[in-house]
Amino acid sequence: MTSNSDPATSVGDDPRRYAFTVWNYRQGEIVAAMIYLGNELGFYKAMAGAGPLGAAELAARTGQHERWVLEWLRLQAAAKLLDYCGDERFQLPDAAINLLVDGEHKTFAAGEFAGPGMADSLQRLFENFRTGLGNSYEDGGPEGAHRGECRHWQAARNDLIPRMIPSLDGVEEKLKAGAVVADVGCGDGAAVLAMAETYPNSRFVGIDASRHAVALVERKAAEMGLGNVELRHADGADLPGEATYDFLITLDCIHDMTRPEAVIAAIKRSLNDDGTWFIKDIRSKPRFEDNLRKPMLAMMYGFSLMSCMSSAMSEPGGAGLGTLGFNPEVAERMIRAAGFTQFRMHDFKDPGNLYYEVRH
Ligand SMILES: C[S@@+](CC[C@H](N)C(=O)[O-])C[C@H]1O[C@@H](n2cnc3c(N)ncnc32)[C@H](O)[C@@H]1O
Repeated sequence: MTSNSDPATSVGDDPRRYAFTVWNYRQGEIVAAMIYLGNELGFYKAMAGAGPLGAAELAARTGQHERWVLEWLRLQAAAKLLDYCGDERFQLPDAAINLLVDGEHKTFAAGEFAGPGMADSLQRLFENFRTGLGNSYEDGGPEGAHRGECRHWQAARNDLIPRMIPSLDGVEEKLKAGAVVADVGCGDGAAVLAMAETYPNSRFVGIDASRHAVALVERKAAEMGLGNVELRHADGADLPGEATYDFLITLDCIHDMTRPEAVIAAIKRSLNDDGTWFIKDIRSKPRFEDNLRKPMLAMMYGFSLMSCMSSAMSEPGGAGLGTLGFNPEVAERMIRAAGFTQFRMHDFKDPGNLYYEVRH
């Protein structure tokens, strides 16, 4: 007997339905692996705009073996990722283009399917659960620093610069005139490089605790010929002890930090009197039960176990906030505790994230 009948909190007591839920995840695991394969083998790209295709045609276009291609096509149609047009012919629907074909599109998803990388993450979890210690982003190796890169560039060029920065009090004017800016937890550097490109009069510092991320961004800054960006391999808690920055950003990273309070205190010290700190963090509510209607909630806890909370637990005594941990209540409490008095939430109609503008 279940304790309540609310479908958001109760699994119900129909054993067939429960079995379907369980096996549906097993099916999802396999379909995910086949999406990874289809992306790597260029199947989706080869089908884009091609109309209905049979296995022989797709095999010829991609240089793969026809019988194996046919089974993959059937699986994709069974998974409702391809239209079945009859006579063993299959078509990629228009809705798939942004998600599975166009690697430059901000909603491109096919590149996010981890494939063999998943086995490594899973293996590490055994040790994590036993010791309580997680893995930092640096432990994810050079490959890890690239994850989500296209999406981050799209967000920087389409959202951060044209939409978000202009809505912050006085920031765009300062960046145009010449400001000193830090991106703490800069990751693959999309934001710091896009800003450096857009505001040549300003000086930018990208700071990250992962040496792989720093090396990646240094390489890209050189390729882009940017002379106004400097990279530092450092912990955010080691920001300069005196007022230095006119504008400082932390995007999607406070919840990953082992010592968020120490980093926030360092941000407070290093921000000029008239400076602005801009935060992007995962949209979540303080109480677990209030998040239960989020359609991708289980996936978010998976990201947390394999990435965010793992990073935030990667030192003894790590705060371990995790993917959904820097919710508005925690954010405001930590930010005010550091001595900041101005805390404003922005609604940029981003279903995945919340944004805050913080000043002394
Ligand atoms: C999810 S990534 C976000 C990267 C980037 N800001 C973005 O939005 O794409 C989190 C980054 O924070 C970095 N990080 C975690 N803890 C840090 C700390 N204490 N100081 C500096 N960087 C940190 C990680 O190395 C990682 O590159």
